[in-house]
Amino acid sequence: MRLSQVAAAPLARLQTGIGELDRVLGGGLVPGSLVLLGGSPGIGKSTLTNMALGNIAGAGHKTLYVSGEESAEQVRLRAERLSPSALEVPVLAETDLDAVLDAIASHAPSVCVIDSVQTLRSGELSGAPGSVGQVREVAARIMDLAKARSIAVVLVGHVTKDGALAGPRVLEHLVDCVLQFEGERERPYRELRALKNRFGSTNEAGLFEMRQGGLVEVLDASARFVAEATRAPGSVVLAAMEGSRPLLVEVQALVAASELEQPRRVVSGLDRNRLALVLAILGRHGGVKLGPQPPYDVFVNVVGGVRVEEPGVDLAIALAVASAARGVPISSPHPPAPCGCFGELGLTGELRWVGHPERRLAEASRHGLAGVLAPAGSGEQAQEASTLRQALSIALPAGRTRPASVAA
Ligand code: TYD
Ligand code: MG
Repeated sequence: MRLSQVAAAPLARLQTGIGELDRVLGGGLVPGSLVLLGGSPGIGKSTLTNMALGNIAGAGHKTLYVSGEESAEQVRLRAERLSPSALEVPVLAETDLDAVLDAIASHAPSVCVIDSVQTLRSGELSGAPGSVGQVREVAARIMDLAKARSIAVVLVGHVTKDGALAGPRVLEHLVDCVLQFEGERERPYRELRALKNRFGSTNEAGLFEMRQGGLVEVLDASARFVAEATRAPGSVVLAAMEGSRPLLVEVQALVAASELEQPRRVVSGLDRNRLALVLAILGRHGGVKLGPQPPYDVFVNVVGGVRVEEPGVDLAIALAVASAARGVPISSPHPPAPCGCFGELGLTGELRWVGHPERRLAEASRHGLAGVLAPAGSGEQAQEASTLRQALSIALPAGRTRPASVAA
């Protein structure tokens, strides 16, 4: 059959009532689809799914929350902190797979949450709950039922320290959508990303804040991060893209004399290899040398617990590190407004164009950033530079440099 002859009905979607979650899902939950929600313990997976089910129940759909991890009482106590409709969600505290499948089949919800996939156990297999065989079996049997009955299922899964979904990693090809909930437990911000989505884009990210009454969507993230930016040496604002959405975040660096033979390179919210690469380019093409004698520790942090995974972050890392190393703040043409930047660094020291400069610049100007350093071709509003050296000379003019401030 030709593809043009294949009937394709528009996808029905069930809104969770949580805007950021719906956006990351591609517009809501698709009936009969399987979503894997991963994240480290305590990040807020149960809270997010409790809230979503509450909203869906409040909108008049049948829901079911299966808890293999907490007792029904514990789930109730959490729901009490959320909305009144969260208390309307039926809960089943059960770890036996067959009992769970029976309950799903007889209750026939539109949306079902399994919290977590690692706690259910099939009596037909000998392995312990959470083992690869068990997790695979649990997911496959639930999927069969979900597809047959058009039930949208959210499987909650824990991740290991290195970020891989323990056990559930084997589920990634099976499910329709893999969502990752990340952030630092001690900090309020949480970020939800789609790593795979058969029904939407994987570029979208949603930002939340954990508060007393559950997770709250952060819609004015740029404004907050810009207001909190310190403008001290080592700080710069990055005009980043989170999927289709611009986001201004502060990137901070600290350069300090090291007592270790192997100086430290510590990142948070960034890829460690990216820092290594930018440091090498800074040394070779930017004249900012951080060792080997004397050795320096370098710390770089994306403030607020946000993760940046796009190439445009390179220039922000370079400027933050150079500013920290020299001990002078990045100069803004209109102080006290903070200076912004974006751009990718090439291995030969050139500053490379990155996607959506117009959206980044618009966001920067909306939040009062003065002079955004950007690669050539980014637009009239930008202060364009075509090499790292040029960018450094604009952001950290030689007259204001205090070398040796690090060694002091
Ligand atoms: P939880 O959703 O249980 O995390 P996970 O299921 O990913 O392990 O929630 C984690 C933390 O969130 C918990 O330590 C308490 C906190 N929390 C709040 O701060 N406010 C709230 O309203 C709720 C429900 C939880
Ligand atoms: Mg939980």
